[in-house]
Amino acid sequence: MVSKICCIGAGYVGGPSMAVMADSSPGVDIEVVDVDQQRIDAWNNLNGASLPIYEPGLQQVLDRVRGHNLHFSTDVAGAIRRADMVFLSVNTPTKHRGHGAGSAADLTFIEKAARQIADSAQGATIVVERSTLPVRTADGLRRILDCSTNARFEILSNPEFMAEGTAIDDLQNPDRVLVGGQCDATVNALAGIYANWVPSSRIITTNLWSAELAKLTANAFLAQRISSINAIAGICEATGADVEEVRRAIGADRRIGAEFLKPGPGFGGSCFKKDLLNLIYLAEHYGLDEVARYWRMVLDLNGWSQKRISQMIVKALFGTLRDKRIAVLGFAFKADTNDTRESPAIGICRDLLHDGASLSIHDPRVDDGAMRSLLSMSDDGLPAVGGFEKAASVETACDGADAVLILTDWHQYKQLDWADLASRMRQPGWVFDARRGTNLAEAESHGLDTWQIGRGGMN
Ligand code: UDX
Ligand code: ADP
Repeated sequence: MVSKICCIGAGYVGGPSMAVMADSSPGVDIEVVDVDQQRIDAWNNLNGASLPIYEPGLQQVLDRVRGHNLHFSTDVAGAIRRADMVFLSVNTPTKHRGHGAGSAADLTFIEKAARQIADSAQGATIVVERSTLPVRTADGLRRILDCSTNARFEILSNPEFMAEGTAIDDLQNPDRVLVGGQCDATVNALAGIYANWVPSSRIITTNLWSAELAKLTANAFLAQRISSINAIAGICEATGADVEEVRRAIGADRRIGAEFLKPGPGFGGSCFKKDLLNLIYLAEHYGLDEVARYWRMVLDLNGWSQKRISQMIVKALFGTLRDKRIAVLGFAFKADTNDTRESPAIGICRDLLHDGASLSIHDPRVDDGAMRSLLSMSDDGLPAVGGFEKAASVETACDGADAVLILTDWHQYKQLDWADLASRMRQPGWVFDARRGTNLAEAESHGLDTWQIGRGGMN
């Protein structure tokens, strides 16, 4: 019976997933630990700090469990020592230097955490991989853990499939939970915890390597769907077809399905790019060069999805952005999150700045500091040319703007008061809707020129 759990890493995955587990498993006591004191203070809402991540419904779940069977602290060693089961939820970014730079996962944090587990664990301990890892990481993990003299370990892979912005609902009602391992009793120990709130038909058990590969595969397939529909959006614009109609038509086919076919400025978030690179590295490692090239194309197309937006804007605004003001609506990689990791807005805004534009950026959840650290340098590492500021409202963002660019699908952009916004803008004004996320017909009725992703007929 598992009664004491430790989760190393209080990030976007560790925090919400342990909160939901604690909420549905009153019999287990969970300690979420992190080396980052500020993050832990924020999770504890100390000194008026707001939670480190924004996720609808998260605060309500925390209110029920924090201080009861869920605790946040920086006592990594103590929590490991007390635990029967340790979840590894640390970050695994792409390596930036050395062997495999640019595609292999950087396992520094995993390795460090594994050494801490080897040093501090006592007795029989189950170690659960939660971070997305290259296939066969468990081999390396085992070698480090085997150095322990005080504990015996079993390793499980339990990748998390939740998406940001819908994390609480995804965690409470998952399509499936995946538990991979080599020992049935250990697999069942974790499956038994999930059985507290997940129907057993949705708990899938596999071997370790299948679980590790399934997570990479799921993200690669999802990313591929977005790149595919974005490619079709480009064809729609050139031919007079409408991607919304194409989407409806193909989504009605059961074999294809309606989800994950929304065109946009390219996918962002912490997973897709990193996991595709991870898969590409794996394919190359095993000499499967065509396979590597196939998946790299999905990434290349994502780069194209982003680049073409800034290029199209420059073209529409008479070939130069110097002395032009652009209101950018949305900076997060998608709605309902404050996360900006790999957000398409970063590259697009950098390109616009590079062309001399002055940007006024609105986002309901992303703070000033995050924008500043991402935009003060251009892609080539040089200081950005144009200027940018965070706007407190959509209205102030549009004051004096030559164009409005919608990059994130925040619900507050769906119905904008275009009569008011158009009167604040410099004429002739443009609206570029890269998400099909606003009432564009109304913008047109107030004299604004418009471009919408995947809608034919502009050229
Ligand atoms: C993703 C996976 O969905 C999740 O299962 C995995 O565990 C982590 O990676 P996340 O990155 O949080 O989750 O968000 P997701 O909703 O998948 O969106 C990723 C990106 O794709 C966003 O930039 C989003 O705007 C874009 N997207 C998504 C589209 O452009 N069109 C779509 O139809 C869906
Ligand atoms: P994810 O989106 O996968 O949750 P994050 O970057 O949001 O990733 O969170 C990972 C967290 O793991 C960070 O808060 C980081 O400080 C923490 N972390 C990394 N290594 C360790 C470690 N050895 N011990 C404790 N916490 C760690």
